[in-house]
Amino acid sequence: MAAPVQKHDEVELRIDSLAFGGNGVARLDGFVVFVRRALPGDLVRAQITKVKRGFAEAHAVDLLEPGPDRVEPRCEHFGSCGGCRFQDLAYAAQAAAKHDQVRDSLQRLGGIAEPPLEPIIPAVEEFAYRNKLEYSFTQTAAGPALGFHRSGRWDEVLPIETCHLASALGNEVRRAVEAWARAQGLPAFDQRSHEGYLRHLIVREGRNTGQVLVVLVTAPGDLAGSDELVAALRGFPEVRSAHWAVNDRPAEVTNLPTMLLFGEEAIEEEFLELRFRVRAGSFLQTNTRMGEHLYSLVREYAALTGGETVYDLYSGTGTIGLLLASNALTVWGIEQSEESVACALENAQLNGIANAAFFAGDVAAAAEELVPRSGPPDVVVVDPPRAGLSGRGLRRVAELSADRLVYVSCNPATLAGNAGELTRALGYRLVKVRPLDLFPHTPHVESVALFAREGA
Ligand SMILES: C[S@@+](CC[C@H](N)C(=O)[O-])C[C@H]1O[C@@H](n2cnc3c(N)ncnc32)[C@H](O)[C@@H]1O
Repeated sequence: MAAPVQKHDEVELRIDSLAFGGNGVARLDGFVVFVRRALPGDLVRAQITKVKRGFAEAHAVDLLEPGPDRVEPRCEHFGSCGGCRFQDLAYAAQAAAKHDQVRDSLQRLGGIAEPPLEPIIPAVEEFAYRNKLEYSFTQTAAGPALGFHRSGRWDEVLPIETCHLASALGNEVRRAVEAWARAQGLPAFDQRSHEGYLRHLIVREGRNTGQVLVVLVTAPGDLAGSDELVAALRGFPEVRSAHWAVNDRPAEVTNLPTMLLFGEEAIEEEFLELRFRVRAGSFLQTNTRMGEHLYSLVREYAALTGGETVYDLYSGTGTIGLLLASNALTVWGIEQSEESVACALENAQLNGIANAAFFAGDVAAAAEELVPRSGPPDVVVVDPPRAGLSGRGLRRVAELSADRLVYVSCNPATLAGNAGELTRALGYRLVKVRPLDLFPHTPHVESVALFAREGA
């Protein structure tokens, strides 16, 4: 269909729905236009920014008629801060849009006409749900301040007083570090000139244990006022672990080797009935309450009876495998990060779990090598990164011929592609899929899918 618009045209559009990624979807004589900063039901004047074959992109320049689900955002920085996209959309409408996005992806990208979709599990907390926040320093007239990148800007940080996705305690810890930085007169690092000293602050909280871990990231150079920083953090009995890391590169990385300023090397978090060690750089679901819903759903879909050999592929720090171990014969995890494998083994020991083993390796290569040792798996769980499983990885996983394959996805587009391949060519049937909202006010959506081997 020929595009009915050209770049720079201004058009009036009624928004029908929300696309995966967060843009509004409108149709102009049947031609799809993705509109930035527009919500379902809105009537907007939009300027076309790009025309491609089959669709166009635009941004809303004027809101002519607000949609029925628009609400007042809670945060004063909404729209400027790069963190939240949908605080102005009623939460029920956010969850409904995410549910529909998973269905649409499975239909359009997976070629599955009637996906067996179960209702989305909405978030239990709309705000203050994150157990980890990474803040950047910026220089203000009042001295160094902490905040987040301005929407769409790599070089500009917006100072914030309260982040509504962090807990009250997390906000207080951040303010205490900011007050220390000001009292010390230390300069914030400037992303353009690469001058200055203070770069990032990471605050991690075990929401079920009340333990807090803090990492301060600076440019190279002695940490002036470290005694005062320790005193400020010791003011919070919850802060059990404080680290300092040095980033000597221009790139804004935070996952760096750390030096312990005080306390324990790691804190602990609880998911369901198990405890997990959380190190400065280790991966952990950032929404504890919804992480528990996610892991419960994996348990439900895995439907273990106690006699199964289970593979936990992309096992990270072992959370899923260890939570399945009490109902399995054996659990075998594969994970490419050696540090995460070490954490998984430590977590097995911490919980007295003796029937789970974890190995470092690439899933595509290592899963098959494991079979002679473990025996063929009855149930395979995969929890890949956003890119999903590669063609080779997916074929290797299918060749394991497990009766049940439980797929944990943080990206409906790659889940859909993998689901299409599994059901068309690799001998599996999609039994059910359930989306979960772990990240209110952002475009992210998780899903758990259950596949069964044809004929099993
Ligand atoms: C979404 S995380 C899964 C974390 C874990 N299941 C949990 O719930 O804590 C994905 C993991 O896959 C690992 N990974 C990425 N590519 C891999 C590959 N080709 N083979 C093995 N592991 C891989 C990453 O290091 C990361 O720990």
